[in-house]
Parts: sequence; C-alpha cells; structure tokens
Amino acid sequence: MTGATGTGISEQAARRRTFAIISHPDAGKTTLTEKFLLYAGAVTEAGAVQARSGRRKATSDWMAMEQQRGISISSTVLQFTYRDHVVNLLDTPGHRDFSEDTYRVLAAADAAVMVLDVAKGIEAQTLKLFEVCRSRNLPIITFLNKYDRPGRDPLELLDEIASQIKLSPTPVTWPVGVPGDFRGVIDRRTGDFVRFTRTVRGATAVPEEMVAADQAARQEGDAWEQATEECSLLAEVGADLDPKSFLSGESSPMFVGSALTNFGVRHLLDAVVDLAPAPEPRDDVAGELRPLESGLSGFVFKIQANMNPAHRDHIAFVRVCSGHFERGMTVTHAPTGRPFATKYASSVFGSDRETIDEAFPGDVIGLVNASDLRIGDTLYDGDRVVFPGIPTFAPELFVRARARDTGRYKQFRRGLEQMEREGVVQVLFDLDDGTVPILAAVGQMQFEVFAHRLEHEFGAAVDLSPTPYTVARRTDDATVAKLAGTTGATVMKRHDGTKLALFESMFWLQRVEKQHPDGCFEVILTGTTGQA
Ligand code: G4P
Repeated sequence: MTGATGTGISEQAARRRTFAIISHPDAGKTTLTEKFLLYAGAVTEAGAVQARSGRRKATSDWMAMEQQRGISISSTVLQFTYRDHVVNLLDTPGHRDFSEDTYRVLAAADAAVMVLDVAKGIEAQTLKLFEVCRSRNLPIITFLNKYDRPGRDPLELLDEIASQIKLSPTPVTWPVGVPGDFRGVIDRRTGDFVRFTRTVRGATAVPEEMVAADQAARQEGDAWEQATEECSLLAEVGADLDPKSFLSGESSPMFVGSALTNFGVRHLLDAVVDLAPAPEPRDDVAGELRPLESGLSGFVFKIQANMNPAHRDHIAFVRVCSGHFERGMTVTHAPTGRPFATKYASSVFGSDRETIDEAFPGDVIGLVNASDLRIGDTLYDGDRVVFPGIPTFAPELFVRARARDTGRYKQFRRGLEQMEREGVVQVLFDLDDGTVPILAAVGQMQFEVFAHRLEHEFGAAVDLSPTPYTVARRTDDATVAKLAGTTGATVMKRHDGTKLALFESMFWLQRVEKQHPDGCFEVILTGTTGQA
C-alpha cells in the first residue's frame, strides 16, 4: 500500500531528466539514441542495441506483425544514468509507424530534442511533432545532425527555424568547417575550439581536444576565421543561450554535430542534463499542483497490448508525477476508485523487460496485465488526484470498418470497444447511426494494427474501405446545427461525446470556416481520452 512519502523524493526527482526525440524519418534519431547510450556507458559499443546492418530488420517477439514487417511498433522507454543523473528517453515511434502514440509520448516528456538533418532542415514530421511540443510549451533542444556530410549553410537553417516555426535558435556550439569538412565546434560559452577526431563508424566515444582560440586560429586558418565571424554575428543579433525563454518553449539551445561520427553528442547529452528541466509538480484537473513529495501519482500515456502473444498481456505505461513507487504497492485507479495492485511492474529496455522495484517522478513504469486502464487514467496513492487527460489531435486518415462476417458482429464490437479504449484508433459514429463506424487515425499503421488485432485477438476479420474525408476538426453543437446539409462535410461523434466535423479537403474546411467565422473548428480535440 503506501510508498514512502517525503524523504528523498525531491532529490531523486532533481536527478531525473525525461525527454523525447522528435525528428523526421532518417534525420538520425535511432543513431543518436544509440550514441546517447554509448556516452552514458549503457552500451560499450554503438550498434550493440540493434546490430547496425540489421537495424531495420531488428525484430521483437511482441507481435507477429512486427516480425513480418521488420519494424518495431511500440515505443520504447530507455533509462540510463549519466553524470549521476537518471535519464529517461521516451522513444517516439518513427515514420512508417507514426501514430497517435507518438503524440501521447510527448505528454509524458518534460523536454524534447529536435533532430534536424543539416541537408534538409525542418521536414514535415518534425513540424507536426513540434506543434505538439508547442501546444504544451515543452522546452526544445535542437541538434543539427549530419554535419559530417555536405549540407546547407547553418545560418540559413537558423533563419528557417526562426521563421517557419517561430522558435528562436540560440546556438551553444557553432561549427568550424563547412558541412562535409567538419573539424569541430566553438563552444560559445567559453570561446574555445573543441576539435573532434573520427573513430571507425563512431563505434566508440570520439576524442575531443580543447584548443585555445589563438592556437585554433593558427591551425584552422580560414575555417576558424569564418566560424568566429559567424559567432560575432550571432552575438550581435542576441542569439545567446537564454534558460528562461528555453524553459517556456520560446527559444531553443542549438548544438551542431554528427551522430554517426559522435561529433557533438557529448555536448548534446550534457545539455539534456544541464539545461532540460527536472520533473516538476504537475497540475491536476483543477489546476492545483500535485507536490512531488506527496503520495505516488502518475498517468497512463501509452498502452501496449499483446506484446507477448503467449500471454495476451497489456502493458500500461505510466509516467510518475509524484511520490515514490515501490513494486507491490497498491494504488487507486482514479476513474473507478478501485485498488490496483502493482505486483507486475516492469521497465522496458529494447524488447527486454526487466522488473522494476522503485521509481520516482519523471520515471516510467510499465504495468502488466492492466487491461482495465485507459490512456489518460490517473493512478494515485494517498491524497486523491486526477490529472487532466491527454489531448488528442485531429486525425488525418479515415476509413469505414465493417465486420467481414456479419455472424462475428459481436466479436467485432468487442474488439472495437477494447481498441478504442486503448487508443489504437479513434472510433467515430454517425450522429444517428451506430453500426458502421469510421476509424480515424494520424498514421496508416494504426489501421493495420487494428485490423490485425481484430482478426487475431478477437476473431473478427474486418474490411476497411476508403472514405472521402481527409481533414477533421473538433466542433460544438451550435456549429453542428449550422453545418447541416453542407457539401463536402459531415459530422461524427466519439464515444466521449466529442463531435468531429470531417471535410473532404482543406479547401472545404477553409470555405466552411469562412462561411461560419464564429464556428468551432479546433485542431486539438480537448475532449480527452481516458477520463471517463
Ligand atoms: P531515424 O531513426 O531518424 O530514422 O534515422 P537513423 O538513425 O536510422 O539514420 C538514418 C540514416 O542516416 C542511417 O543511414 C544513418 O546511418 C544515417 N545517419 C545518422 N546520423 C548521421 C550522421 O550524423 N551523419 C551521416 N552521414 N549519416 C547519419 P542508413 O544508410 O539508412 O543506414 P546504415 O546503413 O548507415 O545503417
């Protein structure tokens, strides 16, 4: 039952850094993750986590489908220690498996590292994830990756970040040498040159040589001169590290490097520890802060079902917000008031599960056999607390779902309800007809997981057929009345009562918005998941 309260919890929280990496596919998130583990000493050689050549094919036994497709569907939580800090890296699923999970993971993070490919700058998926970070004022550290090969002028990229996403980049390190001929960085805090030396494929930490400015000028010639001129320019425009605006999500400390060769990785990891915030008390639904030292509390931000087909288990990932978690304690499930035993709690490293014995604010625990828990649910010990649910974002993909065999309709409904609860897809029904739902998602993979599980777990094969809709917005009753009979739009509802207006195209949405300037068309679906 009760976890220790008080003693040591704040100290433990202060040691934690909980963050996620946001990036477009191929910008280098996986490589960087490996390199963080290398620098933290959690692996002795990069490539140990997933053999590099087989990385894309790395399999886990969580789902047959994962094996068929050779990708990892679940997001993984990696915990490692670095400089006496406990770092929790929440992996946001990438490209092909982009899904609402990716958004939800950010609800559990206290900061994000945005990885940009120096040749490409801001790309579509980075932008989407960035918007989610912005909606939460999440502090963002920027890493300009792949500087070891030809790319764009970094000053131009600074402009792009400032103008496209309205985030002021404040370079902490600045490259010496152009992309492709990367020699090292100026640490703008000290003015020193940090020279990097390559190691074979970056398998081990790179040797770094600290060189005083006058010596660097002699040895690096033009490259040094250009770098120092650019640094003066940055100082003139005031692009200097500013912890306050960083913490409020307005400016972003920027680092330059190459995850492949390890250049700049240490600086970045140091920044996570030195700049990113430690877990702080979180607001509950009433806007009251839950002190870190109070009884255990946390919320479910992700549910992974069927990780082990032999056991048909469900793991609910809980972000700890306050208190001291000890395995075996019994907590209260806020929506039902029922006790929940945490005998089976695990942390997950890659596809290996380890039993976890204790956790502190900022940590993530995986609760096994948690089929009653929903995304957004609060668990607590001691004083009751309910955290706000996790907002969902407007889905972008819509299909109709029909049971292939009408004789299996009951199984179909059961699977539909269960997966809706877990947040696998959003389920929408016409306002007056509840038989053929539309499934809505932000990533195609969500439909594939849905269809696979419905067939194999619930025994009801499903046919998914296209719909004409491509855009959704949350709306309200007053707007619904106005939309009646509008071409190119329809209104559907979720089980929690949230109404969604679906449009055939952005064009139709804009037209309707013009017709009804006082209508409600929200991107963030404030009707939350989880809180019944
Ligand atoms: P992702 O998780 O963001 O999708 O990216 P990932 O780390 O898988 O990296 C995508 C590709 O970019 C990989 O090459 C990786 O080696 C390469 N890469 C990552 N960081 C750097 C860097 O700093 N410099 C350079 N030059 N390349 C980098 P690949 O060809 O897809 O795989 P592999 O054959 O190298 O394993």
